[in-house]
Amino acid sequence: MKKLTFVLLALCTWGFGANADVNLIASLSTVSSAIQPSGTTVTIKDPASLVNLFIGTRNGGHTFPGATLPHGMVKVGMDTNSPGNHAGYDGDPQFNATGFSQLHDDGTGGAVPLSLFKLWAFTSCGQFDTFEECQTSIAGRNVPRKNLSTGLPDDFAEPGYFASNLSTGIRVELTATRRAAIHRYTFPSGTRNPRMVVDITNDGQQSSTDPIMDLDSETGRVSGGASFAASFGPGRYRAFTCVDFKGDGFELGSPREFGAWLGNFPVRQTTNLHQLYTSFRDELGSLLTFAPNGNGTTSILARVGVSFISPEQACSNAEEEIPDFDFERVKSSAWAQWNELLGRIQVKTDNVDPEIVSLLYSSSYRTHISPADYTGENPKWNSTEPYYDSFYCNWDTYRTLYSWMALHDPDTFARIVRGLINIQQHEGWLPECRGATAQHFIQGGSNGDPILGEFFVKFHEHASALNVSASALYAALLADAEDQPPNWDLQGRQANMWKKLGYIPSDVWEPSGTNTKQVSRTLEYAFSDFTISQVAKILGKKADGTKYAKRAGNFVNVFNPNTTVPGHDDIKGMMQPRFADGTFNFTDPRHCSVNDPEQSTCFLNAANVDGFYEGSPIVYTQYVPQDTARLIQLQGGNQKFIDRLNFIFNENFFDSTDEPSQQIPFMYHYANRPGLSTQRSRQVIAEFYNTSSNGLPGNDDSGAMGSYVAFYLAGLYPLPATRQFLLSSPFFPEISFFNPIFGKTTTIKANNFKGNPTNGTGGTVFVKGVKIDGVPWGSNCFLDWNAFIKGSVVELDLTDNINVTCGKGSDALPPSLSTGGYD
Ligand SMILES: *[C@@H]1O[C@H](CO)[C@@H](O)[C@H](O)[C@H]1NC(C)=O
Ligand SMILES: *[C@@H]1O[C@H](CO)[C@@H](O)[C@H](O)[C@H]1NC(C)=O
Ligand SMILES: *[C@@H]1O[C@H](CO)[C@@H](O)[C@H](O)[C@H]1NC(C)=O
Ligand SMILES: *[C@@H]1O[C@H](CO)[C@@H](O)[C@H](O)[C@H]1NC(C)=O
Ligand SMILES: *[C@@H]1O[C@H](CO)[C@@H](O)[C@H](O)[C@H]1NC(C)=O
Ligand SMILES: *[C@@H]1O[C@H](CO)[C@@H](O)[C@H](O)[C@H]1NC(C)=O
Ligand SMILES: *[C@@H]1O[C@H](CO)[C@@H](O)[C@H](O)[C@H]1NC(C)=O
Ligand SMILES: *[C@@H]1O[C@H](CO)[C@@H](O)[C@H](O)[C@H]1NC(C)=O
Ligand SMILES: *[C@@H]1O[C@H](CO)[C@@H](O)[C@H](O)[C@H]1NC(C)=O
Ligand SMILES: *[C@@H]1O[C@H](CO)[C@@H](O)[C@H](O)[C@H]1NC(C)=O
Ligand SMILES: *[C@@H]1O[C@H](CO)[C@@H](O)[C@H](O)[C@H]1NC(C)=O
Repeated sequence: MKKLTFVLLALCTWGFGANADVNLIASLSTVSSAIQPSGTTVTIKDPASLVNLFIGTRNGGHTFPGATLPHGMVKVGMDTNSPGNHAGYDGDPQFNATGFSQLHDDGTGGAVPLSLFKLWAFTSCGQFDTFEECQTSIAGRNVPRKNLSTGLPDDFAEPGYFASNLSTGIRVELTATRRAAIHRYTFPSGTRNPRMVVDITNDGQQSSTDPIMDLDSETGRVSGGASFAASFGPGRYRAFTCVDFKGDGFELGSPREFGAWLGNFPVRQTTNLHQLYTSFRDELGSLLTFAPNGNGTTSILARVGVSFISPEQACSNAEEEIPDFDFERVKSSAWAQWNELLGRIQVKTDNVDPEIVSLLYSSSYRTHISPADYTGENPKWNSTEPYYDSFYCNWDTYRTLYSWMALHDPDTFARIVRGLINIQQHEGWLPECRGATAQHFIQGGSNGDPILGEFFVKFHEHASALNVSASALYAALLADAEDQPPNWDLQGRQANMWKKLGYIPSDVWEPSGTNTKQVSRTLEYAFSDFTISQVAKILGKKADGTKYAKRAGNFVNVFNPNTTVPGHDDIKGMMQPRFADGTFNFTDPRHCSVNDPEQSTCFLNAANVDGFYEGSPIVYTQYVPQDTARLIQLQGGNQKFIDRLNFIFNENFFDSTDEPSQQIPFMYHYANRPGLSTQRSRQVIAEFYNTSSNGLPGNDDSGAMGSYVAFYLAGLYPLPATRQFLLSSPFFPEISFFNPIFGKTTTIKANNFKGNPTNGTGGTVFVKGVKIDGVPWGSNCFLDWNAFIKGSVVELDLTDNINVTCGKGSDALPPSLSTGGYD
């Protein structure tokens, strides 16, 4: 999802600066110190040290560089006054710090999500007296960070830890458990009145209502919360916090001074909001002054619990998870969890640019930020099942994120699936997009379906061991496929029209949702039904398998064979909007691309009637992952298909910022030209993805882009809800995946690896032969999941000849629905 990307690109021309090179040098030095000499099984001992968290923190990536556990609920980080502060932070030093808040998302568009309960520290702020000024408001707290000699801000981040030096001389350090954070504020020596601010209401959207706040003047404990607006939907949610302070290495005692603040005015001795005569302010919280640690350096620890249930639960979360206020213990525990998880993927690095190694682990890292584990924090119903949130959105992540997770983290995958099913059982449909416990707007369709399908196809034999109920999973899929929801803008599909016509017509208005994105929704519904057919077949439900496979073929219903691209009569046949009577409307195939003469965008907009969401008709015409063989036929055969793919790249219709384009570089495989896919996918990495802070072309979309880059670097591309991975060559002489549920490691070896061409062009990178466990494998174009179940050694024979093929016979081509399917 990009949404705000265009605005940001316009604002952020400064994003192409010297810091790209500086980051590269920084990552080079970390990499070389962390990689062991090759020859040992574990070549990357500390993969967490290779993660660059600042990738995408400028230029609209909206990535979150703060501290979190893998899929942790608390994501504590710096907030800045940047217009692109969706994850709080901005890597550009011109933007100032405004607080350190406990909750964020990663890589989203929409309005700023979460960004709640900011803490702040003052060395001084005038008098603490009623209606004396102290710059407590968010605008008042606008403080530059210190800069390094490189011109970059003096900020540091590694998995589970973030630190910054503010120009006030205060150093801030942050680390996290699942539902709590611990902050350390180190004041300049000689600070006589160290003061701490707790901000209850600022959420980055100024949306708060009904604030509550209580301050214990003995202990200094502050608890409170408010109601806030969701970021990408119509709903609201309530959230609560509980903050305790402790001296780091000294007795802090009771606060010397305490009170509330409203805007820039402290209200001394006020311990709760009921005492305040002001009716409503969206700028309020608590202010406390503590005694310093003698005349030396004062470090104050702030332990912050968060809850979506109550302030009491926010306190108990903090007490349970950080009983000891031990910052270093929490930090090293977070690091260890990340290191173990990331270390399940191992690479050999001979002849590999260290920047590529860092790009792999940084990208893989970002696939484990969202969705977040909110188990125990669901205010809407009680359940013993896991509860995950921050599905933002499944439309972004279903294509690659869960397949990457399937390779190395099936336990988390299973818990997420259980959480999705539980939501369906209580709300009727699987979530498409969800944040802060509220339903968000759907983007393409019911994209929880391919996620459940992916889990079931890959792990059905382990489903009961992982506590995933096959019948509940199937029932959840059928609800999406068959039942029209009260409002398909928020969940489910326009199911009745889909069942009646086999496409979503442009000209039929129903009361229960907005009649937009009809063509892209048709394509998404077809793919989702394909994933349901895959599950049905495994469950032995033959009739359903056939029924949904047939519905998966409905993509042809919006294919108009006569539509051409203006000025390119040879590019003929396009997905187009269709009326209920069967006739077609016309949307310029260039619509929403950079070549669109009208420069239109296809973001979420209830007034759009063009039929497409975040992608041009040219891009969407390639979007039939379940049946590329049929698509090739519709487009006039292999050569015409290849010409069209080349046209898409050469004429700049490929859109690296948006998910519908993600598989296009790999599509040459289906036309028996895998070398062209290898080269295109490598060119895409070279052109658009790197380890600098502007190294993402658009929003990270909750790790969707991270997972896509990780697959490209691994030389694989997944097709969700199948056993198929398209095969190219990895950027490493060897890459392996340890899968805990199978207890097996699968290794892909590029036997005659000679390094990666820097611009992605040429090189000895084309696959001309494959062996699995020493036995020749029948295709150079795809691997079967079986290789990963067994823990195989996959050996690739590389050549510099781009004219390689998939191999002999039609079985060497990757499967498609119309050529026999995926059984
Ligand atoms: C750091 O650099 C930025 C951008 O040049 C500047 O706005 C900011 O004031 C600097 N910080 C300090 C403490 O000088
Ligand atoms: C950051 O703070 C500095 C110093 O107060 C100020 O000059 C600058 O305008 C601020 N930058 C922003 C983006 O607010
Ligand atoms: C901040 O300053 C301290 C010294 O006071 C230094 O050790 C640290 O590296 C600096 N940078 C960060 C991000 O903490
Ligand atoms: C701080 O320093 C002053 C002057 O040296 C001394 O009188 C005072 O006792 C010191 N205070 C503490 C708390 O150590
Ligand atoms: C969940 O259970 C608790 C404890 O019994 C109860 O107080 C709460 O109201 C329940 N929540 C919901 C949404 O039913
Ligand atoms: C599955 O459920 C059982 C019974 O509640 C529990 O003992 C077991 O730990 C669960 N396993 C997983 C992987 O969640
Ligand atoms: C495409 O053009 C052919 C030949 O003119 C015509 O027979 C056919 O009906 C057209 N199809 C559509 C969908 O317009
Ligand atoms: C047909 O498409 C045009 C161009 O996008 C649009 O202006 C018009 O509203 C569409 N007609 C209907 C009935 O949707
Ligand atoms: C890094 O990637 C960004 C985003 O695609 C691009 O704009 C920038 O030019 C790249 N930088 C380098 C040094 O390649
Ligand atoms: C890519 O790099 C190779 C080797 O340096 C060079 O020969 C070739 O011209 C480059 N191609 C492009 C498209 O930049
Ligand atoms: C690949 O095929 C093209 C077209 O047939 C040919 O021009 C080219 O020389 C071939 N490349 C190699 C390395 O054989």
